[in-house]
Amino acid sequence: MANKLSQYYAPTLKEAPKDADILSAKLMLRAGLIRKTASGIYEWLPLGMRVFRKVENIVREELDKIGAQEIILPAVQPKELWEQTGRWEEYGKELLRFEDRKKAGFCFSPTAEEVITNCIKRDVKSYKQLPVVLYQFCIKFRDEIRPRFGVMRSREFYMKDAYSFCETEKSAEEWYKKFFEAYNSIFTRCGLKFKAVEAESGNIGGSFSHEFMVVAKTGENAIEECVECGYLASDEKAGKKCPKCGGKYKSTRGIEVGHTFKLGTKYSESMNAKFLDKDQKPHPFIMGCYGIGITRVVAAAIEQNNDENGIIWTKELSPFDIHLITISEDEKVLAQANLLIKEAEAKGLTVLWDDRDKQAGMKFKEADLLGLYNRIVISPKTLKEDSLEYKARDSKDATMWKLSNVKTKLNDLT
Ligand SMILES: Nc1ncnc2c1ncn2[C@@H]1O[C@H](COP(=O)(O)OP(=O)(O)OP(=O)(O)O)[C@@H](O)[C@H]1O
Ligand SMILES: [Mg+2]
Ligand SMILES: [Zn+2]
Repeated sequence: MANKLSQYYAPTLKEAPKDADILSAKLMLRAGLIRKTASGIYEWLPLGMRVFRKVENIVREELDKIGAQEIILPAVQPKELWEQTGRWEEYGKELLRFEDRKKAGFCFSPTAEEVITNCIKRDVKSYKQLPVVLYQFCIKFRDEIRPRFGVMRSREFYMKDAYSFCETEKSAEEWYKKFFEAYNSIFTRCGLKFKAVEAESGNIGGSFSHEFMVVAKTGENAIEECVECGYLASDEKAGKKCPKCGGKYKSTRGIEVGHTFKLGTKYSESMNAKFLDKDQKPHPFIMGCYGIGITRVVAAAIEQNNDENGIIWTKELSPFDIHLITISEDEKVLAQANLLIKEAEAKGLTVLWDDRDKQAGMKFKEADLLGLYNRIVISPKTLKEDSLEYKARDSKDATMWKLSNVKTKLNDLT
């Protein structure tokens, strides 16, 4: 069943709220994808949720493909675990701490190295059980000093975090590469232009890391790219010259959507998480961790792809495949719309039908704002030519499809 816009919860706004400070946030609010509950805390409405789920499913498929296994870890985590690694103190004010009714200390998870290391320590005793590679999707909370840019730098956000536990350096390296490649597949499948750059490890620590950046002029992060060999580094890491060839850098900007870390034994040592090798000798697990900000990916996709009229979804992330506009309540128009929906859905295409009794101009404007990848118009005028009108959101020109040809044309949209 097609979703009718007349009954769909997508409350659009003519103007963005005054405190929206970046284009993607303005568009997400105007198109009814999100609403703000409090500083850095948002509600996700149905249209936003559909994109969110698409990103999540792409991530899940690619991680399942490399053999990672999905779990869920607690969002509320005990203080004792964070004390073992010293991060209860170290993490600073971004860590939201509180007490339960018995005065026991807890925090709302900003990341989950402590909990997962404790989990593995409990059950994995031998090298024969390794490697163990797990991931979860979960709401994270970081009490950011300056929440801004809508869901791009929020306090509550939805993240995929993954952790690898290995016996040897070599195996840890192999898993790092698998994740690196999975991340490449994920952002490629999302239809985004991105770069993987060498970076500092920050609050998570460890020896080595890469940031995945969605390329956008308004991005918070500076990326340095060697003009000679194409080597990429974050500006904090870049130095004056390319470490690979001595070439000069040119700068671009990006939005960090994913981060891979080689952790080594930082957490397993401090938490005394060890396995026994072939000779019954204990060793700390060699760890890696890998994050993707699902909610930030949605905002970054909009920041990268938009025009003066609204969002331009990539084919892969479009909340519905087709935005169908009918003009007039004419019986023939409605019959044709129902037929189109049936044929589209038979091919697995999803349809949002603007069935509302509103002016054509307004409907077109809203279609541009919502930014679905394909737009189809059926009106008495198009039917007079035995046609309907098709337009891709990212192209200027509409084309007419003969009704007799619609089935074939729909194939091109799948
Ligand atoms: N405040 C936030 N709001 C939304 N997404 C976030 C936020 N902080 C981190 N993320 C997402 O979670 C991913 C993994 O978290 P990680 O700890 O690596 O982030 P980070 O290095 O603190 O990011 P940043 O430098 O942007 O603060 C990031 O790549 C990003 O996509
Ligand atoms: Mg941060
Ligand atoms: Zn170079």
